[in-house]
Formats: sequence, C-alpha cells, structure tokens
Amino acid sequence: METITTNKVAAAIAEKFRQVFNSEPLLVRSPGRVNLIGEHTDYNKGFVLPAAINKAIYVAAGISNNDQCHFIAVDMEDEYVGDIKNLAKKDGHWSVYINGVIDQLQKAGYVIPGFNCVIGGDIPTGAGMSSSAAVECAVLFALNEMFSLGLDTLAMVKMAQQAENKYVGVQCGIMDQFASMFGKKDHVIKLDCRSLKYEYKPFDMEGIRIVLFDTNIKHSLASSEYNTRRLQCEAGVSIINALHPEVKKLRDVSLAMLDQYVLPIDEKVYLRCSFVVEEIQRLQDACIDLENHDMISFGKKMFATHTGLSELYDVSCKELDFLVDFVKNEESVLGARMMGGGFGGCTINLVKEEGIEELSARIEKAYRAAFGIDMKVYVTTIENGTSIIATGKTVVVAV
Ligand code: GLA
Repeated sequence: METITTNKVAAAIAEKFRQVFNSEPLLVRSPGRVNLIGEHTDYNKGFVLPAAINKAIYVAAGISNNDQCHFIAVDMEDEYVGDIKNLAKKDGHWSVYINGVIDQLQKAGYVIPGFNCVIGGDIPTGAGMSSSAAVECAVLFALNEMFSLGLDTLAMVKMAQQAENKYVGVQCGIMDQFASMFGKKDHVIKLDCRSLKYEYKPFDMEGIRIVLFDTNIKHSLASSEYNTRRLQCEAGVSIINALHPEVKKLRDVSLAMLDQYVLPIDEKVYLRCSFVVEEIQRLQDACIDLENHDMISFGKKMFATHTGLSELYDVSCKELDFLVDFVKNEESVLGARMMGGGFGGCTINLVKEEGIEELSARIEKAYRAAFGIDMKVYVTTIENGTSIIATGKTVVVAV
C-alpha cells in the first residue's frame, strides 16, 4: 500500500483506528475557525468574515459490516457503542455531534449502514473555535465519501448546522459549519448569510498574525443567553414588521427605523438590535479596508465591535473585557475583540509578529494576577477547509 504522511495528531488517530478496528481508515480533517469581524450577524441574515485555521478535528472512519456503531473520542478517553437504526441520544455527551449528523441524514431519507470511527484533534473545546461544528463537518464529509451519498459542500454545511439546531439543541447560525467546510488557505470568507453567496478575500498578513488569547473560562449562561439574544433580535424585527411587512430580519433594518419604532417600545431590545445593525455595516466597511490593505483602520473596527458586543449586546464578561482593554494601547496590536458567542472563550487580536512573544508574556502575567487563572495563547494561520487526508487505501504515518 502507498504511504501518506500527515501531522502527528492525525496520524495518532489513524493509528488508534488501526489498532482497534484492524483496518486502514478513511481519514478526514475539518478545521476550527476564527471570525475577523461580523459577530452575531449570521442568524440576522447579515454578513460574517470567518476563516478556517490550523487547528482541526480528525475523523478516522470505516464501515462495520453490520448495524453496530463504535465511536471512540481519543481526547475524552471515552467511547460510544450503539445501533445505527436506533440512535441513543445522550444529552451533553460528545456523541450527539456524530449522532446528530446521522439523524439528519436519516431524516433526509439516506440509509446509513453501521460504521466505526475514532475522533480527536487539537481544537481546544469551549474556547470559541467551533470544535463541535468541526466534528459535525468531519463526520458528515466522511460519511458522504464512504457511502457515496452525493451531497455537495453547501448541502453538507446546512445539514451540519441542522444537526446542531435540531439534535444538539443549540440554535447557532451557519457561520461555523460554513467556515470549517469552505475555508481557503490565506483567505477570509465574506459570507452573505441570507443568499449564502460568498467571496474569498486575501488576508494580507505580512508581518501581522491572528493571535487568540483564551480566557480559559466558559460561563454557564453562554447558551441560554445566546438563545435570548436571538429572541431579542426577533422581537425588534416583529415591532418593525408590523408597520413594514418587507422587513424580515435585522439585515433589512436601518438605525433610523430602530430609533423610530423600537426605542419607544423596548429599550433593551433597541440596544441589542442597534449593535447588530451597526455590525452588519461595520463588516462591509472593514472589507473595504481589507481591499485597501489598511489593517490599521480594520483593527479600529475590531475594537469598535468589542465595545458594541460588551455595552450594547451585553455578551462579554470581565475576563474578555480585561484582555481587550490590556491590548488597547499596545503598539504591536492593531485590533482586538471578543470572538464568537461570548461569555468566555477567546479574544481575537491582530498583532505585529515581532511583538507577540513579549506581549504574550506580559498579558499572561497580568491575567493571572487579576483572576488567579492561567490563560492560553494561540498564534494561528489560515488554512483550507474540510478535506480527505487518506482514503483507506493508503497507510497513514506521521511526518
Ligand atoms: C456562535 C454561533 C455562530 C455565531 C456566533 C456569533 O459561534 O455558533 O453561529 O452566531 O456564535 O457570531
């Protein structure tokens, strides 16, 4: 058999599959994501600007020749065994991300035979880099290949999002799954979440890196508050829709409409909606900065996004605010903001390469002094989206 070389994390997952299931697996990589700007805009049918990164989930998979499924999560040191025709839903368990995908395929009429898989990777969980979306995308991509389902990439993105919405029960938008599947090396994706049209934009990073500062905390209200924000956005839309039936989402709303119709009725809803309407515009302006290679102006918009997320949308927390405040006047930092749903996870920072080491050391020390916990630093690169590393007809070994 031909030999494929890959990184150590992926090779270890293939090796585990070989040991347990005694055959060569199909091996799929699906990356985590960052989002440069455009937060909480996807479910309001605005724009987002994500990119796939150099941290990924790997799935090694093979058919089982009967109705039994055996899944192993190497990082959790845990396994799941069950019947493909009778999925056992274990709320809060990692298996929901795999069974959610199977459930969606079955609901769409696909008959999926039993299969085995080993999953794992190097995306930290709960840090806001979308490890769960990466699991869903990796599994779906593997099943599509293994059973020749004929799904195209966009169909897989939608199905992976539905797995999260309908089976896992998190009402996320489409950004995470889209970025994981459609990522392109050294490019960000400008995605119109209404039409799902997208454009790759070169991310001019000469001398600048995307650095994530991880608070290492995830407050428990993250998912309930996420769903509340969605409802508040919908509440704003329905106030306006009563008078302007053409308004279906915040994408269709102007700040003047919010002032006229929403402010007199509900101030909290007004603040939430104002952030989203401003953010949709801010992203479009930031894309012009990108075209002009004006990363200074782009970075300023990231700081403005953070202020909006913290003061108007109210999804930040003291740890995230601390990390953004700390870098605000740093010469090496062009822009920073909290990233993702909020209430913990990472800040995303554009940092001049030569300043990263010294800044990281200082911020880690200050964070420990302020909160008594250690934070983490990830220096990322932008990579391709979901892909097959090995087909099962080749031997996978570490570089
Ligand atoms: C989470 C969701 C995304 C998006 C962001 C906020 O990551 O999964 O769909 O809504 O929050 O921008």
